[in-house]
Amino acid sequence: MANKMTKRIVVAGGAGYIGSHVCVELLTGGASALVIDNFSNAHPEALNRIRELASGDLEFLECDLADPAQKDTIIGAVKNFRPDGAVHLAGLKAVGESVEQPARYYRVNLGAALTLIEALEAADAKKLVFSSSATVYGDRNQSPVDESGLTGATNPYGRTKLFIEDIAKDIARSDDEWRVVNLRYFNPVGAHPSGRIGEDPNDIPNNLFPFIAQVAVGRRDKLQIFGDDYSTPDGTGVRDYIHVVDLARGHAAALNYLTTQKTGGAVDINLGTGKGFSVLEAVAAFKRASNRDIPYEIAPRRDGDIAEIYANADRAEKLLGWRAEKTLENMCADHWRWQSQNPDGYKA
Ligand code: WQD
Repeated sequence: MANKMTKRIVVAGGAGYIGSHVCVELLTGGASALVIDNFSNAHPEALNRIRELASGDLEFLECDLADPAQKDTIIGAVKNFRPDGAVHLAGLKAVGESVEQPARYYRVNLGAALTLIEALEAADAKKLVFSSSATVYGDRNQSPVDESGLTGATNPYGRTKLFIEDIAKDIARSDDEWRVVNLRYFNPVGAHPSGRIGEDPNDIPNNLFPFIAQVAVGRRDKLQIFGDDYSTPDGTGVRDYIHVVDLARGHAAALNYLTTQKTGGAVDINLGTGKGFSVLEAVAAFKRASNRDIPYEIAPRRDGDIAEIYANADRAEKLLGWRAEKTLENMCADHWRWQSQNPDGYKA
């Protein structure tokens, strides 16, 4: 019989970029994990790499949480795993694509969350850490932004995050056995220091760091910097980049927090460093870390982008005892190690 203190966690989307780092963190901490993934934005090789980096009980179910036809299979497998709770990272995440395909984003992201919640209820495991995003703040707040900031997503992807936060809060209000943390990630970047797991976008990267890394490794000719006329120190967008290993530690801390809560409820918590860096500062840091040139050109602003956002992360320290520790240099060095050791990601 497993030691009851050993946490048993369902990791929905656990083969993905954030999910694989969360799995390594949880397994290293002695937990057992059941990964549910359909590889829509992940690669089976990531599971092999997780097992390489962390011993421990890693089980896997290849299913699509958003497919109603697979719901009974998922609920059966989750009950059988006897979980203590779950981390929900499974969903579509491309801002631009969500604007073109809103119905798909609502169907997939909300459907996946509702199926996971139903499975946790069936397994009597009412603890959930949800992968939310700073995108829920839109452009309505002065940085640093704390969790009382005005929310107002500016795209369907961001609205699915807000809707799922509210679904979780309604469920926690309806049944005080539920304990939920909505983790509002700022900008996850970097990779495990081993270089064995990292970000591996399916096609042209939407986000800055994977694009820079692919320019550095020679897969892309040049970076387009979307606007240098923002009201920021150097005119380019300012974001709160957070190392994915710090982010994974935040998930472990959130699960520990949930197991210590005597009362039910849902709480929003920012995961960020509290520092903002511009696009040009990120490019310069990556050049130093990789010792590679990063050719770029200034392009028009990207629809939906905001000038600046970075976190007030005091609540995470107060409630979770967590603070980001890694620097921008660490993020660039670790992202580069992953990309240079895996020029074509997991496909090779
Ligand atoms: C960062 C900065 C761009 C690409 C989004 C989502 C968030 C999360 C992370 C999912 C901005 C600039 C970017 C490029 C550029 N989503 N940029 N050239 O938009 O802050 O956040 O991705 O995981 O929820 O909202 O991140 O990395 O796309 O952009 O100049 O080729 O880099 O304008 O200033 P963003 P990003």
